[in-house]
Amino acid sequence: MSSSERTFIAIKPDGVQRGLVSQILSRFENRGYKLVAIKLVNPTESLLTQHYAEHVGKPFFPKVLSHMMSGPILATVWEGKDVVKQGRAMLGATNPLNSAPGTVRGDFGIDTGRNVAHGSDSVESAEREIALWFKPDEVVSWTSAQATWVY
Ligand code: TYD
Ligand code: MG
Repeated sequence: MSSSERTFIAIKPDGVQRGLVSQILSRFENRGYKLVAIKLVNPTESLLTQHYAEHVGKPFFPKVLSHMMSGPILATVWEGKDVVKQGRAMLGATNPLNSAPGTVRGDFGIDTGRNVAHGSDSVESAEREIALWFKPDEVVSWTSAQATWVY
């Protein structure tokens, strides 16, 4: 299991507009994951269509598109051991009604459309999504001077 594994986590427009950014970022920092990229984005339809390529044509896709274009999204990349799977676990199930308390969606989610945050579902998806949302030089590798036992 690589400690340089990376995942793409995005705080959706509902999360940004409700002022949940710092609380969500804190959860990843507290867990020991390393922030390697962050920016606020107004995504284009083209970017979202590529991001959600697997869902294009599904009945809920137009709603997803309009929600994701309703305001800025905070795009982030986190690095650390098993971060893709752990990040999904920290976000909780897609439908907040099925998300455990203590997860981001279980604590803050309203409904499946407004479920606050996105997380990559596999290492392959993460690589694809990071390349889609960030230019290579926007992802910054760094080492903690504090301790070698944090990621
Ligand atoms: P999906 O990839 O299935 O979920 P996840 O975000 O947990 O990987 O779906 C992508 C997003 O599309 C989801 O976060 C919310 C939205 N969505 C709906 O609005 N309705 C639905 O029935 C589904 C499955 C998803
Ligand atoms: Mg998904």
